[in-house]
Amino acid sequence: TPRILSGMQPTHDSLHLGNYLGAQVNWVRMQRDFDAFFCVVDQHALTVGPAPEELRRRTRVTAAQYLAGGIDPDVSTVFVQSHVPEHSQLAWVLNCITGYGEAARMTQFKDKAGQRGAEGTNVGLFTYPMLMAADILLYDTTAVPVGEDQRQHLELTRDLAQRFNARYGDTFVIPEAHIPGETAKIMSLQEPTAKMSKSAANQNGNLMMLDEPKVNTKKLKSAVTDTDNSVRFDPEAKPGIANLLRIHSALSGESIDALVERYAGENKYGALKTDVAEQVALVQAPFKARVDELLADPAELDRILARGAERARSVAAGVLERAYDAVGFLPSV
Ligand code: TYM
Repeated sequence: TPRILSGMQPTHDSLHLGNYLGAQVNWVRMQRDFDAFFCVVDQHALTVGPAPEELRRRTRVTAAQYLAGGIDPDVSTVFVQSHVPEHSQLAWVLNCITGYGEAARMTQFKDKAGQRGAEGTNVGLFTYPMLMAADILLYDTTAVPVGEDQRQHLELTRDLAQRFNARYGDTFVIPEAHIPGETAKIMSLQEPTAKMSKSAANQNGNLMMLDEPKVNTKKLKSAVTDTDNSVRFDPEAKPGIANLLRIHSALSGESIDALVERYAGENKYGALKTDVAEQVALVQAPFKARVDELLADPAELDRILARGAERARSVAAGVLERAYDAVGFLPSV
């Protein structure tokens, strides 16, 4: 069976609705048709310098959210990146076939380095995409379900795999990005031309999966729209309304066309916002309840993660051995 792998960074306690709709919904849909690996990428999160107790808590809470959103640990392999040392081992090899300029062109790196300045930018941020490529290539992954913002990292992963295969012989499977249609880029409620982002300055633009529903309802009520007062789906001219329609449609399963028809006429923005808030609450309330349940028994959660790491290693070790042998490292036994 073909494989999928994806991951999220445990940089915050709660996922936001973009993570959920852009990635997790597809993970859940795909987990039964693929041999699926879902990784909490704690080594990637270390690049932003979290306090140790924060990283520990967020790693567990992120894993709990994978499960609460519908990932079944008896069907999929759920694990923590740092539990599988092959990830950093392969990342080194990939670093050695990546051009400096190539890495310096990654837009996420440029954004982060721009915000932090040279002094605040660690080398881990620079080599981040090669660790991500290792995450993917270690599992002979065929498809990677992610949001639009990961497209460039996926392109680099494919380039590195092809380069490695050309230089050292056929070793890696070339993975495809699997990016959803309407939900690939959920926008900020406050700045609907920018993506919803954990690191955004204005957190009022983010709908957080673990917040109380009334917090999200309030954020939705003050969502930025436009003054034209008629609900139409026009992402260019009406990005705020288009975003609300996409969110509603993804959560309710109703088509965007049907929604546009429902909110036809003057002054329906308020009704649309109220209904989106209701849809968000419907998903969020059981999600949060399940997370709380899982966190109440951290030993069980840790057992699930240990089992996942064992399964992950059983695959990753073989692929790493192939790559080590291909580049000319001596066998260690
Ligand atoms: P991260 O943790 O930033 O985001 C997790 C997932 O959520 C998607 N996403 C969005 N989708 C739609 N709209 C949005 N506004 C939005 N914001 C985030 C992301 O595209 C992602 O799928 N580098 C990755 C983590 C990673 C990874 C990997 C992913 C590390 N190794 C291997 C796939 C495979 C990241 O920072 O995701």
